[in-house]
Amino acid sequence: MPSLARFDLFCRLAAPPRTSGGVGGGRLFVSFQPERELIVARLLYLETSPRKERSHSIAVAQAFLAAYQGLHPEDEIETWDLWNTRLPEFDGLAINAKYRILHGQSHSAEEAAAWQVVVDVFRRFANADKYLLSLPMWNFGIPYKLKHFIDVIAQPGLTFHFSPETGYQGLVTGRPITVVYARGGAYGSAEAAAIDFQKPYLEHFLRFIGFTDIRPIVVEPMLGAPDAVNTAKAAAIEAAQREAERM
Ligand SMILES: Cc1cc2nc3c(=O)[nH]c(=O)nc-3n(C[C@H](O)[C@H](O)[C@H](O)COP(=O)(O)O)c2cc1C
Repeated sequence: MPSLARFDLFCRLAAPPRTSGGVGGGRLFVSFQPERELIVARLLYLETSPRKERSHSIAVAQAFLAAYQGLHPEDEIETWDLWNTRLPEFDGLAINAKYRILHGQSHSAEEAAAWQVVVDVFRRFANADKYLLSLPMWNFGIPYKLKHFIDVIAQPGLTFHFSPETGYQGLVTGRPITVVYARGGAYGSAEAAAIDFQKPYLEHFLRFIGFTDIRPIVVEPMLGAPDAVNTAKAAAIEAAQREAERM
């Protein structure tokens, strides 16, 4: 067993910064015996339906979490319920702060305060090795609480980098995300897929901020006949359990 000082040193050497600008990653290496290193990963689950026990997206996500926890009991899982979170307004002041960064200018005291709140939300988001996100389709798109969250975290120097020479570059890299999409209708046909602004939009945004390993689970049609709902939900729960195994 190494001394406490050696253990502390190992943690400092092995652990990347948990929340530095742009990328973070919350991986914590714990070594009680040099030959047996236990890697503790952080999984962040973003929950975006307000329907809780009636929510299909949450039910499928919970199946994922139960399977994941069984396989990785040592890992940290954080659930972030966007309906139980007071996100900062992304208003004129915050937008001025954003443009100051894009134009390489410094913040006023007021802008700095508005920007700090944005950075705090980003840090909580970035402090994970793996992600799970579940969302309902609302009016062909995503629920407004998730859009609000996206507008807060989509920031230069945090989730993306921009330069006129190289264009946009996502900074949330090297981490997988499983996404559970619940919809009332079915969007498999070409005609219906053309009005699906939930999955294509979200995936575009995730790629924009750097995700490349995006693992979708679609649960639909949740406003269909009871048999169709039950069959689709059982299949989605099985898919979630499989995804948890490879996460
Ligand atoms: C405000 C609202 C808007 C909705 N809009 C759509 C829609 O445009 N297309 C659709 O297929 N289903 C729509 N639905 C149905 C939901 O997508 C469906 O009930 C789904 O199961 C919601 O996810 P949840 O069960 O996790 O809350 C809507 C539901 C609500 C509450």
